[in-house]
Amino acid sequence: MKILLNNRLVNVDASQSRQPLLNWLREQQNMKASKEGCGAGDCGACTVLLGCVQDGQLHYQAANACIALLGSVVGRHVVTLEGLSPHSAQELSDMHPVQQALVDYHASQCGFCTPGIVMAMWAWWLNTPANPMHTAAHKQQHEHAIEQALSGNLCRCTGYHPILQAAASLAPFTQGAQEERQVVGLSHQQVMAYLAADGLLADESTTSTLNYQLPSDEAALALAIDAAPNATLICGGTDLGLEVTQQSHTRPAYIDLSQVTELQSIAIHDGYLCIGGGVTFSQLQDYLGGALLAHNHMALAWQKLLPLIGSTQVRNRGTIAGNIANASPIADSPPLLLALEAELELVQTQKKQHIRVVPLAKFYTGYRHSVLQPGEYIRSIRVPMSERQVFLEKISKRHEDDISAVCMALVVNVEQGVITHFRLGLGGMAATPVLASKLETALLGMAVANIDAGQLMTMLQQDVTPMSDVRASAAYRSQVCINLLQYWLQDAQVKEESVA
Ligand SMILES: Cc1cc2nc3c(=O)[nH]c(=O)nc-3n(C[C@H](O)[C@H](O)[C@H](O)COP(=O)(O)OP(=O)(O)OC[C@H]3O[C@@H](n4cnc5c(N)ncnc54)[C@H](O)[C@@H]3O)c2cc1C
Ligand code: FES
Ligand code: FES
Repeated sequence: MKILLNNRLVNVDASQSRQPLLNWLREQQNMKASKEGCGAGDCGACTVLLGCVQDGQLHYQAANACIALLGSVVGRHVVTLEGLSPHSAQELSDMHPVQQALVDYHASQCGFCTPGIVMAMWAWWLNTPANPMHTAAHKQQHEHAIEQALSGNLCRCTGYHPILQAAASLAPFTQGAQEERQVVGLSHQQVMAYLAADGLLADESTTSTLNYQLPSDEAALALAIDAAPNATLICGGTDLGLEVTQQSHTRPAYIDLSQVTELQSIAIHDGYLCIGGGVTFSQLQDYLGGALLAHNHMALAWQKLLPLIGSTQVRNRGTIAGNIANASPIADSPPLLLALEAELELVQTQKKQHIRVVPLAKFYTGYRHSVLQPGEYIRSIRVPMSERQVFLEKISKRHEDDISAVCMALVVNVEQGVITHFRLGLGGMAATPVLASKLETALLGMAVANIDAGQLMTMLQQDVTPMSDVRASAAYRSQVCINLLQYWLQDAQVKEESVA
């Protein structure tokens, strides 16, 4: 198998596929510019660019090399800091504009984090359309985008202000960024030709070793599952990659879903928002930001939640399906999906393409367990389109790149002061993400004005058993949850009073 690394094709022994990309770069390619800080996707020191072809266009995104397994980047263009400038960087005049901006703004001290920051900033710069910044709102939007792009990069000594200033100074270069369609000395056409070349995407040796299969469509996926029925399905690897680096637990075999074409689609179909089983958080973010759904309450709730999940690097790789299938009690998308009454289309290839549809409310069977059978995968997540009000809050210690203590999503409808619909999805409040169905039964048909805020917790206790862990105690979680519910209630009561 071959990987396009900066401007050269590198032969890779398929037996190496299950190791982290970062280890391969540093230890086998002797490319030490990408650093290892945390090895857990948290610090960004290992950030590289991954290029892939989408809708006929070459598109680059930042990713954490520490938790990406090598097999997952076959068919991608891997760009490291070493590839940043096609020329020698020995002369200051050869510096890339991103590097130059960091120098100009004194945005590096010890420099350990700087390689990752350069790469994350470069990815943002490459993807930033020219922004005239005519208004204060444009400027604010632009600054927010920079913060988002760099939220996965920790720097312990410089302080973020000069780093953000350096990125903001790149704004006049956006035209340059458009012209920089020649990355690492290869034109986009050349890169696309490499990526499409036989033997790169669908190399036989990859499949024949069976320890890392990368099918490109559902037919190939079915064959892969048949050939290795006990292999672990992997998509973005942002959960499974952590097992490798934090617990030294590499699975014997993986089947990678991230390049299965049919799992990549997002569409509105028959009154459902259908999110493919390989769709990343970033792809969903881009789709929902489109004009079509800009004012829909459900889309607005997603737009509030998605930037709070991980960092840009994590969202570029992590998928909604992986977030569900991982069955973590603190996964952030299940509470919203539960409240929105989402259902999952599951495919079991070993039973002649047996397809079943399971409501998410019936998917979890216990802590880190679900109804998924070996070899069964989530083909799509179907979310009924709704115009109902959505109240969503994620509570964590940090705003960005932090796991939640509590995540709450409430889809509610109040007609003439009476609750006619109430679906409360909760994360961090039980062994699995849960729907507060007893609270729902208690509140349905009640006048908002008559709900006693003090009683809400007593009612909710029948639905939840929060846990204590390093992030929060059970008591804290309960208190936060009740505070959030009271916040919603006060707001609803004020609205009703103003109508009356
Ligand atoms: C630094 C960091 C920050 C994070 N922050 C957050 C956060 O704020 N909120 C949050 O909720 N999560 C967070 N995560 C966790 C992770 O990013 C998400 O759970 C992500 O959605 C996992 O998706 P993935 O595609 O990477 O899953 P993978 O790691 O590829 O797989 C996870 C599990 O899902 C299964 N799986 C994947 N796709 C499918 C499919 N289509 N069908 C069946 N099974 C499948 C795999 O077999 C595996 O069991 C964070 C992770 C990191 C490393
Ligand atoms: S080494 Fe920290 S994110 Fe990769
Ligand atoms: S420059 Fe030292 S950690 Fe960022």
